[in-house]
Formats: sequence, C-alpha cells, structure tokens
Amino acid sequence: MSKSVLLLGASGRTGRLVLRLALDGGHRVTALVRSEKRLADAPDSRLTKVVGEACDPATLRQLVPGHDVVVSTLGPRWPTRAAAAVYPDSAAAFVPAMEEAGVRRLLVTSSALLFEQRTCTAWLLRRAVPSVVHGAASMEAVVRRSDLDFTLVRTSFLDDSDDPAHRLGVDALPDAPGSVSRLAVARYLLSQIEAEEGHRRRVVGLCR
Ligand SMILES: NC(=O)c1ccc[n+]([C@@H]2O[C@H](COP(=O)([O-])OP(=O)(O)OC[C@H]3O[C@@H](n4cnc5c(N)ncnc54)[C@H](OP(=O)(O)O)[C@@H]3O)[C@@H](O)[C@H]2O)c1
Repeated sequence: MSKSVLLLGASGRTGRLVLRLALDGGHRVTALVRSEKRLADAPDSRLTKVVGEACDPATLRQLVPGHDVVVSTLGPRWPTRAAAAVYPDSAAAFVPAMEEAGVRRLLVTSSALLFEQRTCTAWLLRRAVPSVVHGAASMEAVVRRSDLDFTLVRTSFLDDSDDPAHRLGVDALPDAPGSVSRLAVARYLLSQIEAEEGHRRRVVGLCR
C-alpha cells in the first residue's frame, strides 16, 4: 500500500537514497530541506519539496498532519556540538508535532556508538566524537519519552558502496560490527515504511 512519508534529511547521502527508493516504491514523499538547491536534481510527481527548518516546531506542526510516517535521516555535517544539536533540536520539533497530529510511526537514524560496545575502536570513536554521541543520546531520550511507534536505527560507520549486505540486531549490535552502506540503511528504512508491524518501539543495530 502506498504511504505518505515526511522525510527529514532528504538532501543527505542516506536521505537521498531513501527518497529515491520510496518514490520508486510508489510512495508519496514530502521532503523538508534547508535549501532547494540541495534537491534540484530530483523531480518527481510524487515528491513535494518544502524549504524550511527541520528544527522549527511551527514548521513541523504545519507539515506533519496527513502523513503516515515520519523518517529522519538528519545528522550533523560536522562532529561539533553546534552541528550535533540537530539531533535533539529536530526531535524536540517533530515529536510534539507528531503527537499533536496523531501520526504515530517514526523512523530515526542514530549512532551505533550508543550501544555498550567494549571494543577499543568503539572506545576511541566515542572519545573522538563526544558531541555526536551526546546529541544522538539526547535525541533518543526525547523519542523514547513519547508514546510514538518509533524505531531508532543505530548504524555503524556508513559507507557509499552499493553493497546491500547487512546484519541487524534488535536491541543490540551484532558481534564484530563492520561499516554498513547507506544503501543498506535506506533499504531497511524502506522496509519499515512498508511493514504492517515493523520494529515498533525498538532500537535496532545495523552493521555489515
Ligand atoms: N556518517 C556515518 O558514518 C554515520 C555513522 C552512524 C550514524 N550516522 C547517522 O546516519 C544518518 C545518515 O548519515 P549520512 O552520513 O547519510 O548523513 P549526511 O549525508 O551527513 O546528511 C545529513 C543531513 O542532515 C541535514 N542537516 C544537518 N544539520 C541540519 C540542520 N541544522 N538543520 C537541517 N538539516 C540539517 C543535512 O542537510 P544539508 O544537506 O542541508 O546539509 C543532510 O540532509 C544520520 O543520522 C547520521 O548521524 C552516520
């Protein structure tokens, strides 16, 4: 069944793949972007582009009603505190807007660094990008406090290969995680857009 999707982060590398897969799958997509130029190459009759601020509560209150699912692939372009604020600031906008509109299904990308991994690599990465870890954790806390049917999709390091291989853990990250392609993440998000039930109110870990 065709779904109506509000996509936040559609101009990003994963977001563009989600956009393409969703449109190819016959779904209608509203893409909220900061700049029209960032999506100039994606014309489609089922796509509505809206230029606006993903962290602005009023914008989200206006946009959310009428959609079946909200997908956020927003993330910091840089590992700084200011950039990572996009995680909690957007959640503080889309969560109340969804609750108000009665739109329950939410898919959000987050970081696998939030899993308790006791490896040297995870330890080093957590110390290398503390703002990203803190921002993602704050976003997740806002989402978990809601009564929405969320799936928090914690991915390991992303790459731009076209390798669809991935392993998925529910409430856990599979052992010895490797990087995973943005394509695999986008395919998983599409599967959740289309699923009758899906991984509702769950955290999933995606890696190769
Ligand atoms: N990169 C990794 O290795 C990695 C690892 C684990 C998890 N993740 C997470 O996976 C998801 C996808 O990552 P990606 O690398 O594909 O993303 P990306 O290419 O960096 O795209 C990020 C998206 O967020 C938007 N954005 C950033 N700050 C914003 C702000 N203040 N207001 C509005 N929009 C803003 C960007 O918009 P503009 O195009 O306008 O800049 C872009 O659409 C993200 O949630 C990311 O944090 C990434």
